[in-house]
Amino acid sequence: MAQNRIVISQVMMPSQTNPNGNVHGGEIMKMMDSTAYAAARRYARSNVVTARVDELEFHLPILIGDLVTCTAEIVFVGHSSMEVAVNVDVEDLDQEGKPQRALTAYFTMVALDRNSRPKPVPPLILDTEEAKRAFEEGRERYEAHKERKRVQREKEKARLAAKNSLREPEDNPHKK
Ligand SMILES: CC(C)(COP(=O)(O)OP(=O)(O)OC[C@H]1O[C@@H](n2cnc3c(N)ncnc32)[C@H](O)[C@@H]1OP(=O)(O)O)[C@@H](O)C(=O)NCCC(=O)NCCS
Repeated sequence: MAQNRIVISQVMMPSQTNPNGNVHGGEIMKMMDSTAYAAARRYARSNVVTARVDELEFHLPILIGDLVTCTAEIVFVGHSSMEVAVNVDVEDLDQEGKPQRALTAYFTMVALDRNSRPKPVPPLILDTEEAKRAFEEGRERYEAHKERKRVQREKEKARLAAKNSLREPEDNPHKK
């Protein structure tokens, strides 16, 4: 199996469901986070933390007794961040038929050094057309996030400057 992919399966138990037998969304989100964590930690060979979750969607309900398989794969890397595509498939073990896609999301994990500061991760090897396409899509989300952060910082700077200019005459009695 590829070094940048981890697969974890679990049968859903009564403690994970509501009284009607539907699995709580948070249970599956935790499983997705743990699988993304394992994939990112193995890729970075260091501690990692979850920084962001994009495009989390619940496509199908999951029921008590279902087999849930969570696949996490590194699809994009920046400097210290890794985007992990996480897919969840569900299978009714009592029925014939293929597993079905139940949830999808992109987790951004950040590699940390021993001082808990972001540390660089290795470049991702893109050996298929699909991997190249997924990388480009990941880059778009990464750049969109950076741009939103830049705009937020600019707005915050402008807000503080406006607040300080209002305060100035009071703080400095020599200034009109
Ligand atoms: C994630 C964290 C380590 C980033 O630290 P920081 O000092 O802001 O670091 P930087 O601004 O240098 O960002 C480091 C990388 O993280 C990415 N990043 C930081 N915040 C992000 C966010 N909200 N979404 C996506 N990426 C993010 C940056 O884009 C950067 O990526 P790059 O190195 O590949 O370019 C810090 O915000 C943190 O510890 N957050 C809490 C994480 C946590 O505890 N998660 C579990 C929650 S229960």
